[in-house]
Amino acid sequence: MDQWSIASSLNRRALLRRAGTAAAGLVALPLSACEAQNSLFSADGAGANPLAIPELNQGIVEQGERVFRLSISAGQKEFVPGVVSPTIGINAPYLGPTLEMRRGERVRLHVDNGLDDGATVHWHGFELPAAADGGPHQLIRPGARWSPSFEVRQRASLYWYHSHLHRGTGPQVYAGLAAPIYVRDDEEDALDLPSEYGVDDIPLIVQDRVLDNSGKLLYPQNMHAQMMGVRGDRLYVNGTQNAVFDARTGLLRLRILNGSNARFYDFSLSGGQTMQIIASDGGLLERPRAVRSLRLAPGERAQILVDLSEGRPLSLVATSPDNSMGMMGGDGGGMMGRRRDDTEMDEPFRVLDIRPSDSSPQRKLPSQLAPLPALDPSLAVRTRRFVLDMGMMGGGMSINGASMDMNVISERVPVGQWEIWEIANASMMAHPFHIHNAQFRVIDRNGRTPPPLETGYKDTVIVDPREQVRLLLRFEEHTDPDLPYMYHCHILEHEDAGMMGQFVVVDS
Ligand code: C2O
Ligand code: CU
Ligand code: CU
Repeated sequence: MDQWSIASSLNRRALLRRAGTAAAGLVALPLSACEAQNSLFSADGAGANPLAIPELNQGIVEQGERVFRLSISAGQKEFVPGVVSPTIGINAPYLGPTLEMRRGERVRLHVDNGLDDGATVHWHGFELPAAADGGPHQLIRPGARWSPSFEVRQRASLYWYHSHLHRGTGPQVYAGLAAPIYVRDDEEDALDLPSEYGVDDIPLIVQDRVLDNSGKLLYPQNMHAQMMGVRGDRLYVNGTQNAVFDARTGLLRLRILNGSNARFYDFSLSGGQTMQIIASDGGLLERPRAVRSLRLAPGERAQILVDLSEGRPLSLVATSPDNSMGMMGGDGGGMMGRRRDDTEMDEPFRVLDIRPSDSSPQRKLPSQLAPLPALDPSLAVRTRRFVLDMGMMGGGMSINGASMDMNVISERVPVGQWEIWEIANASMMAHPFHIHNAQFRVIDRNGRTPPPLETGYKDTVIVDPREQVRLLLRFEEHTDPDLPYMYHCHILEHEDAGMMGQFVVVDS
């Protein structure tokens, strides 16, 4: 196997060995990967490709459960035409189907691991028993089946499922082990929102990728990639580069998932048109919020409505904010010098071109969406503090001074009690902090009110350098004194390197 190519048979031990030597600075960087790709997102936009829409999988209702059959296997994909790369997919060569479920029903997911490697599948954003969570403790061995079952407690929204392999999440997600989940519910159905899958309700899995000189998918494992996370210079949406969508309606609902390993995006519409944010990670906001720009870090989602009633083509574009204060690159001569795969893009690059039809009927936007409970931090009976940090040279990824250890449970959280989790960032780089089994509210950021997207429920939140973000949360059920959930940075290379900790939910 080519050292730098991703294969489903990726040997985890070899990977760790390489990671170790890379961390020690002994491995020559695969410069070709980083330097040769000059084709920044917008540059080679000559061709336009119809946006791939993941197949909708509603499962089959059997004996009171909605049953999904998912089979993880090695696949192949042409990231550039004519060059085949090994990938991982779920019921597909790359990525997987959108699972659709309803709040209140029981689901069962049969997950078959057809890889030569262990895998896990985590239901990101779900409140469920720890045994069903799909974190690193629920390893599915090669050839084995895992069949968790749980009640869907979530509000209607876009969630996702992805690999959570211990120290191997980054490469597996990068190779394709990730896909969307739609939860629907009555509250949302009562609103007249666009909700026809693939027609006016579209999932957008936004991911960047690096290809080597021959055009094959490459997972860089140099020190730069370890520190900054793997960031690519090509953008794919649902696996499609230079994606175009032909809209048939006057109002389009885009459900954006930042499924990238490490890159943050500031999304906006071409021409400065406003977009209406209607939902965050955990469902509808109280009312639509008009914004010109929307930042999403890895793991975060947002749903927006785009008004196409004027019939003019437009583009969803993005810039890539520097989330590292120039630490590793930037013009100030960061410690690693400037690198091309990390170019700060001054010009917006295209995410999706949208072509409306001429006769798009107008559609009115509801002015109210979903009433949310008042955010009342005085409910909290205690505060826990989490300090995110990273050492130099790719080591020292930690939370409260400790790196992830499968055998250490750091927090015991009593069920049913409101808590404030105070997340502080001691490093020079922004981190998206994610908590399993929770949908929380953001109280404040360094004492200031959070932006529109953070007025609703969230499961992943950006914590900027020198920032302290306060979250209000409560675990309502699912106690298990032994089996933990995770909290971690959702930059997957940081997670894999140990910026992760474990908590159990216990009887109070
Ligand atoms: Cu989306 Cu613990 O992960
Ligand atoms: Cu999660
Ligand atoms: Cu991080």
